[in-house]
Amino acid sequence: MSAPTFSVVPEHVAIIMDGNGRWANARGLPRTMGHRKGVEAVRETVRAAGDIGIKYLTLFAFSSENWRRPETEVSDLLGLLKAFIRRDLAELHRQNVRIRVIGDRDNLRGDILPLLLEAEETTRSNTALTLVIAFNYGSRDEIARAFTSLAKDVEAGRLRPQDISPELVGARLDTAGIPDPDLIIRTSGEERLSNFLLWQAAYSEFMFMPEFWPDFSRDLFFAALEKYAARDRRFGGLSAKPAAAVGS
Ligand code: IPE
Ligand code: IPE
Ligand code: MG
Repeated sequence: MSAPTFSVVPEHVAIIMDGNGRWANARGLPRTMGHRKGVEAVRETVRAAGDIGIKYLTLFAFSSENWRRPETEVSDLLGLLKAFIRRDLAELHRQNVRIRVIGDRDNLRGDILPLLLEAEETTRSNTALTLVIAFNYGSRDEIARAFTSLAKDVEAGRLRPQDISPELVGARLDTAGIPDPDLIIRTSGEERLSNFLLWQAAYSEFMFMPEFWPDFSRDLFFAALEKYAARDRRFGGLSAKPAAAVGS
């Protein structure tokens, strides 16, 4: 399938895939059917991102707070993630996609951790799209773990407190080495971050879309990218765009 060209393509797009449950509810289906359909939207989105040359795509798959859901739903979500990796890993590898996982890896039970590690290991030398899967991810938890790591270095005399810089903090986050997201998309009409990439989102552009995640598509993705290309990012400085183009 041919891909459109954009005047600006974000290097890193992060997506809060929300609304699976409501998509199913609206059809009188169990919530799990929404999650199932959501996996198809994931496949389509990953392919589209690769086609237009996005370098990093981060998908919020399961938050550190999602354990609060009923056990059956948690187990459905974990099952779907495992099935996705088992079924799609070879194809993603063939597409030269590198997989990275962010989130807390400690205390994960069952076979999910070995699978995530296998996905990272198998694809570690791939050079096209990097697919970042946020699993058991919460930004405050991530930042707290980074502080613990820095505090240990201070305690051991390897680091002076006054040498702690934003760069050093960033390098201790799960996203170390991954550029900050240029664009954060959230589906389903909710307009909040829900503990996603709080540190990294300092200068991200936000796009909140009304569609539920299972209805997300290549076309909706490209429409968002088109809007992104028209945004004027200033990073605290002055506009790089000619005055007539500002806000257009
Ligand atoms: C997103 O859909 C999937 C996850 C959070 C894992 P939801 O399950 O949150 O769906 P809604 O928000 O209840 O509709
Ligand atoms: C955020 O969605 C987490 C994921 C998309 C994985 P939630 O549905 O968990 O967020 P809240 O609870 O509505 O804020
Ligand atoms: Mg939700």
